[in-house]
Amino acid sequence: MTDGEVIPSDIAVAVKTARSRLGRLAAPLVYLSTIGSTNDAAASLATEGAVVVAGLQTAGRGRRGREWFSPPSSGLYVSVVLAPGRASDPMRATTLLTLAAGVAIADGLAASAGLAVDLKWPNDVYVSGRKLAGILAEASRDIVVLGYGINLQLTAYPPELCDRVTSIEAERGSTVDRASVLVETLAALQHRYDDLLEGRFDAILDAWRRRAPSAVGARVSWTDASGPRSGLTAGIDDGGVLLVATDGGVARIVGGELDWS
Ligand code: BTN
Repeated sequence: MTDGEVIPSDIAVAVKTARSRLGRLAAPLVYLSTIGSTNDAAASLATEGAVVVAGLQTAGRGRRGREWFSPPSSGLYVSVVLAPGRASDPMRATTLLTLAAGVAIADGLAASAGLAVDLKWPNDVYVSGRKLAGILAEASRDIVVLGYGINLQLTAYPPELCDRVTSIEAERGSTVDRASVLVETLAALQHRYDDLLEGRFDAILDAWRRRAPSAVGARVSWTDASGPRSGLTAGIDDGGVLLVATDGGVARIVGGELDWS
């Protein structure tokens, strides 16, 4: 991996000030002004608690092989190395990690930017129907790299994204210091990671359900082996599986592409 650089002073000061709330996270903290993907840099560190922050990504990736637009300054690009396999219930902690991450990013955005965001299953972060942040969890041997990108400032998005994304600046009408967004999201993640490790799964599920209005009563469509299907969301079960009421009964969605209308 590229060696870490000197950590910009805004981030160094904010992390130092928040140290007691970050637990095992951000030890070490690596800053890279340019990297392909912070998820790859974090995977190569493979140390629980390691955090990689980049100024820009040249090959930022999203879920399902999509690109994550990662220009300089206007976004926060972060990856965290976690080890849900050492939880009291490793299987369930690993399964619910992605929902826990969504809750943490929502909590961190509320604390740093005063924004009330909606989560869309499993963990897309929306405000007023536009995507503000995305989360990508990638397992590698005994660790999981949890990467998140948050749109901080208005920028020249590619045309295909323009009417589908938003930023903290667009929603508030003013910018928020990136270091504050970083430490508040990390502090919230540390809190939810402890919930996972110590088996407080109901706290995560309850928090996720409160922030995900579209998990009940929204029309969704998807394609499976039997062809195109659609129905109304009917909540998540205790394993984080999305339930959808269809004409043929309740479908259980564990992953894959959903269209929301
Ligand atoms: C999605 O919504 O599709 C997930 C987007 C995840 C983007 C972040 S930015 C930091 C980390 N590095 C990456 O290459 N991707 C994640």
